[in-house]
Amino acid sequence: MASIGLFQLVLMLLVLLLILVPILVVRRRAKARRASPARPSPPRPSFPPAAPASAAPVAATPVSPAPYSGPATPISGPATPISAPPVAAPVSPAAVRFPDPAMPAGRGAHLGIDFGTSNTVAVLRTADGRHLPLLFDGSPVLPSAVFAADDGRLAVGRDALHLARTAPERLEPAPKRCIDDGHLLLGGDEHAVPAVIGAVLARVLTEARRTLDGATPAVTVTHPAAWGPARRETLLAAAERAGVAAAELLPEPVAAARFLTRLHGTVVAPGGAIAVYDFGAGTFDATVLVHRGGRFDVAATEGLGDTGGRDIDAALLDEVARVYAARDAATWQRLERPATAADRRARWTLLDDVRNAKEMLSRASSTLLYVPLFDDELLLAREQLEAVAAPIVERTVAATKSALWTAGPAASTVAAVFLVGGASRLPLATTALHRAIGVTPTTLERPETVVAEGAAA
Ligand SMILES: Nc1ncnc2c1ncn2[C@@H]1O[C@H](COP(=O)(O)OP(=O)(O)OP(=O)(O)O)[C@@H](O)[C@H]1O
Ligand SMILES: [Mg+2]
Repeated sequence: MASIGLFQLVLMLLVLLLILVPILVVRRRAKARRASPARPSPPRPSFPPAAPASAAPVAATPVSPAPYSGPATPISGPATPISAPPVAAPVSPAAVRFPDPAMPAGRGAHLGIDFGTSNTVAVLRTADGRHLPLLFDGSPVLPSAVFAADDGRLAVGRDALHLARTAPERLEPAPKRCIDDGHLLLGGDEHAVPAVIGAVLARVLTEARRTLDGATPAVTVTHPAAWGPARRETLLAAAERAGVAAAELLPEPVAAARFLTRLHGTVVAPGGAIAVYDFGAGTFDATVLVHRGGRFDVAATEGLGDTGGRDIDAALLDEVARVYAARDAATWQRLERPATAADRRARWTLLDDVRNAKEMLSRASSTLLYVPLFDDELLLAREQLEAVAAPIVERTVAATKSALWTAGPAASTVAAVFLVGGASRLPLATTALHRAIGVTPTTLERPETVVAEGAAA
């Protein structure tokens, strides 16, 4: 009996173990699953195959567009050092849609126009602070040229340059240089200077209004620092002809400084100074600005109303004349004083090519210049250009030194010298300036647009 009882007891224990062990195992597994993150369950085969996640319809969530941050940097390109405080990056006008409920067209918009000797540049600041460089036939630069047609109408910019190929006597390539003339004789017809300059400004206004859905922005037009009241009056009269009754005027170096100090203001200590070297097509300005109480004041400015890239073109043309007039004076005379339409066209081509050759010599050590009528190619080296440009560049360097001298003690703390204007791309300008003042000049990617950016600011 006792042995049967023992046997039964062992059997009962075994049965109990068989029941308890699986329960314990299941509970431990469940506990372990709760403690660890859920693992995805293996995909179940489906038919038709499930669409990729990105293509699946998603409940619409309002997403605000990412803020524009300039053109995309190539992935493999070098990292760009960020040294400037954030400013409104330029965006293509095409990227902006007006009217925008958050930004009523025209209201609060401000147009800055840099009416230059060779080029006019305009930047539109929208009510929300974005800066939009206006595009003219796809380019941010509008040639300031004006062509008077037979019927009295005035064509502007690239159209004017194109029309002048057949009738160059009807073209004024640089109306800014005629500011004192009262009237211009274009192809035998007289045109008032405000009307000619007004035609350029009107073209800019047309583009701005197109961007603003027909509305007119407030307008600031810049002028060389050396311009007196009479010239400024003529510029205001031109703006009126363009339909702007109350344009503001601003000296070019002040506009340039506004933009540059906005970019670099934080890196100039209070009491420190910056200098702006603005070398355009027809004028030069050197300006020293001092950082005081969070803003920049003009401490000194020195302007040369008759010195610019066009003078370097003329000096280079003299160099070409030296070679070809000696070779055949009569043929050179046809280029110098053309009497027929064909010769006028030949001269036009030569002048254009001389300017292009000069600009290329900033990037290359030599180039070929085609000389029409002689049907010849002249090899030009950078050294030749620098030899003829040196006296002109020296004048700009002397004016810069003079502005620094006038600025007095402030000039000893100049933190940066900015190169502005297309002609400042000449490598000779950088080296001559560095040698003269001992500060390495700061070059800008688009030195032609700085003044218009500042005028819009
Ligand atoms: N790479 C270059 N090398 C030398 N000169 C250049 C270069 N690129 C442009 N230029 C010159 O810059 C001048 C145009 O510059 P910019 O547009 O700043 O002048 P502008 O505003 O029309 O003239 P201004 O300010 O004197 O009224 C032209 O003389 C042009 O030939
Ligand atoms: Mg200029």
